[in-house]
Amino acid sequence: MECREHNGLRLSRIGVGTYSLSGVYGSKDLEEYGRMIKRACELGVNFFDTADAYGEAEEVLGRLLQPLRGKVIISTKVGVKHQTKANLSYEYIKTACESSLRNLRTEYIDIYNVHFDDSATPVEETIGALEELVKAGKIRKYGLGHLPAAKVEEYINKGNVYSVLMELSAVARKAGRELLPLVKRNNLAGIAFSVTGRGLLTGKITKNSRFAAGDLRRIDPQFQKEKFTFSLEVQQKLAEIGKRRGMSSVQVAIAWVLAQDGIVTALTGPSTVAHLEENIGGCRQSLSPAELAEIDRFLEEKEEWLAAAEKRTVRQILSGALPADNHQAFVDLVYCLETALINRYLPEAEIMPVFHRLFGLRTKLDQIQKGELRELQKTIGAMLQMD
Ligand SMILES: NC(=O)c1ccc[n+]([C@@H]2O[C@H](COP(=O)([O-])OP(=O)(O)OC[C@H]3O[C@@H](n4cnc5c(N)ncnc54)[C@H](OP(=O)(O)O)[C@@H]3O)[C@@H](O)[C@H]2O)c1
Repeated sequence: MECREHNGLRLSRIGVGTYSLSGVYGSKDLEEYGRMIKRACELGVNFFDTADAYGEAEEVLGRLLQPLRGKVIISTKVGVKHQTKANLSYEYIKTACESSLRNLRTEYIDIYNVHFDDSATPVEETIGALEELVKAGKIRKYGLGHLPAAKVEEYINKGNVYSVLMELSAVARKAGRELLPLVKRNNLAGIAFSVTGRGLLTGKITKNSRFAAGDLRRIDPQFQKEKFTFSLEVQQKLAEIGKRRGMSSVQVAIAWVLAQDGIVTALTGPSTVAHLEENIGGCRQSLSPAELAEIDRFLEEKEEWLAAAEKRTVRQILSGALPADNHQAFVDLVYCLETALINRYLPEAEIMPVFHRLFGLRTKLDQIQKGELRELQKTIGAMLQMD
């Protein structure tokens, strides 16, 4: 596996992430998971990503990687372990880091990431805690995840940021468009995640696929309505290109991510040896400039169609009657807010408080009155003003 040296760390071009251990993609077989991590190391993967918010993932990864500690790069995240609103205060970070070190069975974390934005804590306070952890040898570098571009810029100006995590795949190009220029200008490491589109670009998900209760893809907007249609069409296009090259669609998808300037490593989240091996095949061959241009032309055309279709759908959801089933009504409202966030209908700071209110209802959907969801529908409608 090819590795890239970036500001003192040598990262394999494909990294393995452990989000799936939190159950967001259905239940996983831990024995097979252990085999997958072992195989990843054999194949030259040295970069492993986790978070204190991914259930038992830190503990599992810590146990599996302990014998190889000196040879691997471990990245974890801080800010949202138990709460939906992030906490990046000095005290919280210091305590959370000690807990992650214990979970990971290590004396140092290679890359410690801010997981989400905490608008209530000044950036200087967060950076102060992170810099102290660097000085104490508890973390080697720190990075950023899930932050709007303006906040990333603020961190860059005030601290010594190493890396920026961003969702980047052929079905999710928006973060890359905003963050990659910043990453390149400041010589940071761009780390892409969900590079298989949460399985969408593998060809193993079809329009008839159904996800188990608790699987995040049941509510993920990428798996709903026109976004889902768009994603399946993108997968078909990548499969068509792959066929000419003897690559699968997911291998083309990963090769496309690795071709994006500024991306040092692409994080994928398989839980089986077979999926890992297929994904690693995505860095064995690179795409030609003509193939990359063909993909980009296709995506531009489809994204234009998608943006118009999404606007129509959001307008319909916000102006019509909500579905009788509370779960479906919830999914529809999430779709509106995520679409508004991704397409920047409004600044993130204005959308997030309503997002938190909506998510607060997620576990009580069977008990609440439709009126509560209607109230939120009204609030979102007034906020987005889609007419
Ligand atoms: N998602 C986020 O919001 C986020 C944010 C920051 C960082 N990260 C980090 O980035 C890592 C990668 O993101 P991700 O987990 O969303 O990656 P991903 O690879 O896009 O999605 C993982 C899902 O795709 C499936 N999959 C992967 N390769 C496959 C293949 N070849 N064939 C069939 N299915 C395949 C996995 O299924 P199986 O389990 O069946 O293999 C799993 O359900 C995370 O694990 C996490 O460490 C994620």
